[in-house]
Amino acid sequence: MKIVCGKDYKEMSRKAANIISAQIILKENCVLGLATGSTPIGTYDQLVEWYEKGDLDFSQVSTLNLDEYRGLAADHPQSYRYFMNNQLFKRVNIDISRTHVPDGLEPDADKACADYNNIIHEMGGIDLQLLGLGHNGHIGFNEPGIAFETETHCVDLTETTMKANKRFFEGDEQVPSQAYTMGIKTIMQAKKILVVVSGEDKADIVKRAFAGPVTPEVPASVLQLHNDVTIIGDEAALSKILA
Ligand code: GLP
Repeated sequence: MKIVCGKDYKEMSRKAANIISAQIILKENCVLGLATGSTPIGTYDQLVEWYEKGDLDFSQVSTLNLDEYRGLAADHPQSYRYFMNNQLFKRVNIDISRTHVPDGLEPDADKACADYNNIIHEMGGIDLQLLGLGHNGHIGFNEPGIAFETETHCVDLTETTMKANKRFFEGDEQVPSQAYTMGIKTIMQAKKILVVVSGEDKADIVKRAFAGPVTPEVPASVLQLHNDVTIIGDEAALSKILA
């Protein structure tokens, strides 16, 4: 496990974007596993900037997103499909038909998950998986207690996660209580994994996940068993493991 420190959010984002762009340059038809949440926004902005400069070409790239809220349509402003379209896909020359997010509107959870697993298998797995880290150690929406052997499945979100994500929803609008998420097994099969973490509020969970025991109670801790993981954080998020 490699730990890379950027002095602040901007530098952390640039370093993460550097690794993703290297992947695209080395393999133009790579499969990128992508994440939502606030942390990767700076990384996506940096990739867009390099694309606009003419340094990056997304035309052959395919993507697989980690997760989607169950019940939200692609055009719902809080859906992860909407987030990805606006933060990245519409801003670069990616072929939108090569971008994949679980179908939040598929009411049959078994079907939604089986369909997504089929897409992942057909694409031959993930070259580089980008991950954020939840305050309770979740990756994607794999909440504490999840078995490490799972593929795409439907999850009940924990109170902490719903509370953390409430900031994105307006007024009385309820945060969905369920989501479809790629499983730990699939994430662990990615050839390379890149975790981005920012801010003091992540320092404790970063320590538990990457300097503590490997346990399903902290889903991200399983990443310690992967042979090509890079954690990129700003000084605040890494303060308790680099001190
Ligand atoms: C959500 C997403 C995760 C993300 C996490 C952390 O719950 N499902 O994939 O990593 O939030 O988000 P943030 O980067 O905003 O802290």
